[in-house]
Amino acid sequence: MLRNKGYEVVINEAASDRPAANEEILGGVSGADALLSTLTDKISPEIMDTGLPSLKIIANFAVGFDNIDAEAAKQKNILVSNTPGVLTNTVAEHTFALMLAIAHRISEGDRFSRAGLYKAWGPQLLLGTDVSGKTLGIVGLGRIGSRVAEHAVRGFGMKVLYTDVKPTPEFEKEFGAVFVEKLEDLLPQCDFVSLHVPLLDSTHHLMNETTLKLMKPTAYLINTSRGPIVDEKALAVALAGGVIRGAAIDVFEFEPVITPELKQLENIILTPHIASATEETRNKMAELAALNIIEALEGRIPPNLIK
Ligand code: GLV
Repeated sequence: MLRNKGYEVVINEAASDRPAANEEILGGVSGADALLSTLTDKISPEIMDTGLPSLKIIANFAVGFDNIDAEAAKQKNILVSNTPGVLTNTVAEHTFALMLAIAHRISEGDRFSRAGLYKAWGPQLLLGTDVSGKTLGIVGLGRIGSRVAEHAVRGFGMKVLYTDVKPTPEFEKEFGAVFVEKLEDLLPQCDFVSLHVPLLDSTHHLMNETTLKLMKPTAYLINTSRGPIVDEKALAVALAGGVIRGAAIDVFEFEPVITPELKQLENIILTPHIASATEETRNKMAELAALNIIEALEGRIPPNLIK
């Protein structure tokens, strides 16, 4: 789309299998009119200054934009856009895939089978947990959280509790969901807890030693939002010590590094930040990021400016 419009597009091919280095971003942004960043690119005020005066927009290839110093961009009159909406369904599907997989011990069963350990069928072999009819706690009822809740209610007859900065009465009416003001009150009631909040100072380590202990020992934690919302060391201790039964996470506190203790555990599923990674959705995200750049460079208001 960008080349068709006649723009020169410079791609940092060297960083296709690792995060881009700061120097590479600095080198690339100098003299550029737009920067298309991915979620592991940390976009600092220094990078913005290097892009000025030509830099007009930073188009993030993600719905989350905690990798960008948005306040600094605002002060420097640089637009920032993200890719909301197009990935809602896909991330909600991945969240459910994780929830079903951890409850039914899919990854464990796969490892067991490949290791040649399946010697005899038995009524107690790899017993899991039903998802249907259970209570799901949604932490953050935004676009993705609401879609997960919808699947939970419509597809699996689950009871949904949710917490957020404010209640959404229409949602409660439609899905029979119940607002619980405090996370501390929600956690002890849930069989599954799914995180859907943005990464902010107020959500950093929302799940920590204390809050994990509030969950039922039979409960599971699912995280498809941002890694640092969970204290990974505390999670590893909780999983190893039976504080909670299991976890399935797509995002990591120190991405792409994964806390080694987590990799030793059987009762966790780890996917490499691929919740939106379907062909359809990644194409739509690319189109949206390109559209935001085109609109900004042609003097119109891009459709997905962050607030
Ligand atoms: C992915 O994590 C995104 O924010 O789009």
